[in-house]
Amino acid sequence: MQIQNKTTAPIGVFDSGVGGLTVAREIMRQLPSENVVYFGDTARVPYGSKSKNTIIRFSRQIIRFLQTKNVKAIVIACNTASALALDIVQAETDIPVIGVITPGARAAVNETKNAKIGVVGTEATIRSETYTKVIKTYLSNATVIGKPCPLFVPLVEEGFAKHLITEQVIDIYLSEMKNTDIDTMILGCTHYPLLRSKIIEYLGDRVHIVNPAYETAMDLKDILNKQEIANTSDAPGTYEFYVSDAAEKFTRFANSILPYDVASTQYVNIEDY
Ligand code: DGL
Repeated sequence: MQIQNKTTAPIGVFDSGVGGLTVAREIMRQLPSENVVYFGDTARVPYGSKSKNTIIRFSRQIIRFLQTKNVKAIVIACNTASALALDIVQAETDIPVIGVITPGARAAVNETKNAKIGVVGTEATIRSETYTKVIKTYLSNATVIGKPCPLFVPLVEEGFAKHLITEQVIDIYLSEMKNTDIDTMILGCTHYPLLRSKIIEYLGDRVHIVNPAYETAMDLKDILNKQEIANTSDAPGTYEFYVSDAAEKFTRFANSILPYDVASTQYVNIEDY
């Protein structure tokens, strides 16, 4: 009976805002029977410029909220929260909690031929060097070059992914990286997969681009199977979306990147948790 309930319980996915939908989208693709509850902290985005303590506090509140929805596992879709809070919240939570850093680092290690890996992300993610540390646990002789690209997030949110100005910003941030001999680059921020084609155009096909979302969905699948809590139903999963502000704007963004209709998004006062 217990297991029956657990299998149909939803997966909680959270991010600082809309960007984590790129991870939720991959979970929906790879695990189509799973129900998903998504929370975007749109009132307090960006996390990338905030301190570790603040990000831990925010993550704890969101996990408390998701647990009111009886989630069976939690995916921290936000790279910044994964880099700064995952270890702490994992130790405090009695259901599986996974982040995006380890899956992304592992994918890059599997891909690189010359052990030279670039990582782009928020200030906080790059400063934490979490990607570097995790990459080195798999490949101790790896050279990891990190670069914060803070303007990529507002450019995506403004709908400027295909705009000329984005090409200029890519050039400013990535020209140094382009002159190195990295053969693999991790898109270490939820929003950056939406700039993937522009980044590939800029770096050329010499550099393999890694989006941690796919590997994260695969890790989640593994954990659900191992713990015997995967949803084995044939029916498609159902999805619920919650945000801490600007629900309508979120719904519009979600509809522009998810391959089905998001009817509505509900507001949550996250400071209550
Ligand atoms: N979701 C964040 C990340 O993946 C990017 C946006 C932010 O700074 O909050 O790091």
